[in-house]
Amino acid sequence: MTRRVRKAVFPVAGLGTRLLPATKSVPKEMLTIVDRPLIQYAIDEAREAGIEQMIFVTGRGKSSLDDYFDIAFELETTMSGKGKSLDPLAPSRSGFGEIVSVRQQQPLGLGHAVWCARDIVGDEPFAVLLPDELMLGRPNCLAQMVEAYEKVGGNVVAALEVPASETHKYGVIEPGSTDGRLTEIRAMVEKPPQGTAPSNLMLPGRYILQPEVMGQLDSQETGAGGEIQLTDAMARLIGKQPFNAFLFDGQRHDCGSASGFVIANIALALERDDVAPKVRDYLGGL
Ligand code: G1P
Repeated sequence: MTRRVRKAVFPVAGLGTRLLPATKSVPKEMLTIVDRPLIQYAIDEAREAGIEQMIFVTGRGKSSLDDYFDIAFELETTMSGKGKSLDPLAPSRSGFGEIVSVRQQQPLGLGHAVWCARDIVGDEPFAVLLPDELMLGRPNCLAQMVEAYEKVGGNVVAALEVPASETHKYGVIEPGSTDGRLTEIRAMVEKPPQGTAPSNLMLPGRYILQPEVMGQLDSQETGAGGEIQLTDAMARLIGKQPFNAFLFDGQRHDCGSASGFVIANIALALERDDVAPKVRDYLGGL
């Protein structure tokens, strides 16, 4: 019996230095893709995948994320008073207790950010979503992974092929035998030096993990870049627990970079009936 995945951790404490100066005073997760902040897409993905509790691991200057999912009393009262529909606010509403926050007080790495949520996660499987990786697919990436997880259990992490010239920027897996979209993971390495990656399959930031990974993170061991890496903690569990990669069928946009951000805006604008015609005309004209 696999235990249901009810909780998801969103590491959102990052400084977003690749998007400066925009991110000097606005969290990168609040920058808009079409007309919604980036974080909304990750929350929508988690909601559609059946996640009930979202855990933000935030830092200083990130309180607009909590405000965004709260009730905006003045705004809503003013809009209602003028007879305006509150429908556009619907996705940004959260149920009581649906979103909780914990602080990562120092930027010690992704593994450390996930570890900051350990008490809220408790002793159950959980998902991790990196919001700056925008994953587009139907069903969405995490929903596809949950479906696979419910069949095989253990740990399921998304994997995607990238050119060999890019593997040094990511966590990379060494694949074993493949069954449909699932591939057994033999090893994982964070940011392998160029020319040493065990494959072209990188980790694009969607994970379903068993709670034992928190125990691995307790050691606070540092890895690539002197940071506490989630990839290293997972790697230490291989052989003790099942680890499968889920080969995601969809598009990935790296919204932590300016080019990825612009492309994601175009991709999503073209999917929106109300926005697409003008954008398509403009792009056609180019
Ligand atoms: C993090 C993870 C890495 C993953 C990447 C995806 O790296 O450590 O394994 O491939 O996100 O974006 P970062 O981008 O924080 O350096």
